[in-house]
Amino acid sequence: MFVKINVASFLIALFVVLTEGRNVIERFDEDYEDSIGTKWAVLVAGSKEWYNYRHQANLCHAYQLLKKGGLKDEHIIVFMYDDIANNPENPRPGVIINNPHGHDVYKGVPKDYTGKDCNAQNFYSVILGNKSALTGGSGKVVNSGPNDYIFIYYTDHGAPGLVGMPEDPPVYAIDLNEVLKKKHASRTYKKMVFYLEACDSGSMFADLLDEGLNIYATTSSKPDEDGWATYCYFTGDTSCYGECPPKDFKDNCLGDLFSVSWLENRYIHKRVLNNGTHGSHMMQYGDLHINKDALSIYMGSNSPKHTSSANNNNASNSRHVNQRDVQLLYLISKFQNAPEGSRRKNEAYRKLSEVISEREHVDKSVKHIGQILFGVENGQKVLNIVRQPLVDDWHCLKSFVKIFESHCGSLTSYGKKHIRGFANMCNAGIQRDQMDAAAKQTCGYMSCLSITEKRRFKR
Ligand SMILES: *[C@@H]1O[C@H](CO)[C@@H](O)[C@H](O)[C@H]1NC(C)=O
Ligand SMILES: *[C@@H]1O[C@H](CO)[C@@H](O)[C@H](O)[C@H]1NC(C)=O
Ligand SMILES: *[C@@H]1O[C@H](CO)[C@@H](O)[C@H](O)[C@H]1NC(C)=O
Repeated sequence: MFVKINVASFLIALFVVLTEGRNVIERFDEDYEDSIGTKWAVLVAGSKEWYNYRHQANLCHAYQLLKKGGLKDEHIIVFMYDDIANNPENPRPGVIINNPHGHDVYKGVPKDYTGKDCNAQNFYSVILGNKSALTGGSGKVVNSGPNDYIFIYYTDHGAPGLVGMPEDPPVYAIDLNEVLKKKHASRTYKKMVFYLEACDSGSMFADLLDEGLNIYATTSSKPDEDGWATYCYFTGDTSCYGECPPKDFKDNCLGDLFSVSWLENRYIHKRVLNNGTHGSHMMQYGDLHINKDALSIYMGSNSPKHTSSANNNNASNSRHVNQRDVQLLYLISKFQNAPEGSRRKNEAYRKLSEVISEREHVDKSVKHIGQILFGVENGQKVLNIVRQPLVDDWHCLKSFVKIFESHCGSLTSYGKKHIRGFANMCNAGIQRDQMDAAAKQTCGYMSCLSITEKRRFKR
């Protein structure tokens, strides 16, 4: 360490050692380390639409924390669809909150990559600092040097081996890890910390993130575990989920369990686990020793003080909502709240039945394809096999998703939970033409109709 410091600093350090002892010199080292590198942050909310309020709320909250901690706007790069603050359904126009008692977290958030520019390709290009590969957006990239620290935070829906973006394609685990390897090869950071909240989020790194890249990743869930939304209230329900949002917020959730836990400075592991019910197991991957670093190195002086102390006995046990169910609860409430016989009621009914039948359609189609490929007995068993990494041939997985969608329509955010099934088809050696035939046989005559026609046809 001292070799890098000039003589004056060395003397100061020595003085500090002599006068105040070891703790101070350690702190001195840390501050010194801290001061030579720039702190960068990339924040991503991968969803859009009102019922996904919470993801952009988490993101905005994270921005405020970093900004208050001293990170500069030119070093914080934000990916958000930006359809929440000014959404016609927002009871507080222009404002986003992330906690029942929270203030606006939207003000000042940079709008780097919004709308269709909030996409997977731009996310990769921003991490890699490759301006020429960007489409749209502010042009801000992680233009980092070898002494810099990078914090990446992602919040949204996920599925085995991928996390969503407002518009397809999603972020596939293999692509993200390739990007991280490339970033490491370019020697343009010192250490990186990645926080990721989504269903099945462990599958983004399990057996994929190599050690030695100086990257520490923590996820909200195991590779095959759901994520949880919190601070929700849905009309017709007897109580809230987590704490009640303010009265003007109905039929929605303000945050997600892992995100609000790390942002609010709480006993994060315990709170996320929630005593094993309506909770998930936080996971860590990559270079675990980085976990010992002070978070302030990455998040600035306002960083949360987490403790993962396993021996506190605050086993909370509150209700939270499975991330995948929020849309349905929102639509059911909309239907219940609309006046009897009104146009709004009909519209809500139509939308609700549409989403339910879409879900049924995806569930049944995947199951049926599995039965064609592996037999009625074995189909479900093969599709549900859990292994890490999810799949060996990621091209196969991506092409099976495309083949499915070409015959059966969009997989949808909900339907992505079946990705594991497609992965297992690849793992079992199913060929593209077999998959094509099975999907065609399953969704058959509908394949030449547009999605809207398909919906009409089904009704
Ligand atoms: C940046 O992206 C462009 C376009 O995708 C690509 O051709 C180029 O090789 C990339 N540059 C680097 C340094 O990776
Ligand atoms: C338990 O929870 C209480 C109230 O939230 C908090 O004040 C206390 O510090 C917690 N203790 C531990 C050991 O987690
Ligand atoms: C936590 O779970 C254990 C075992 O399931 C149960 O006995 C205990 O009552 C739970 N604690 C709370 C606070 O719900």
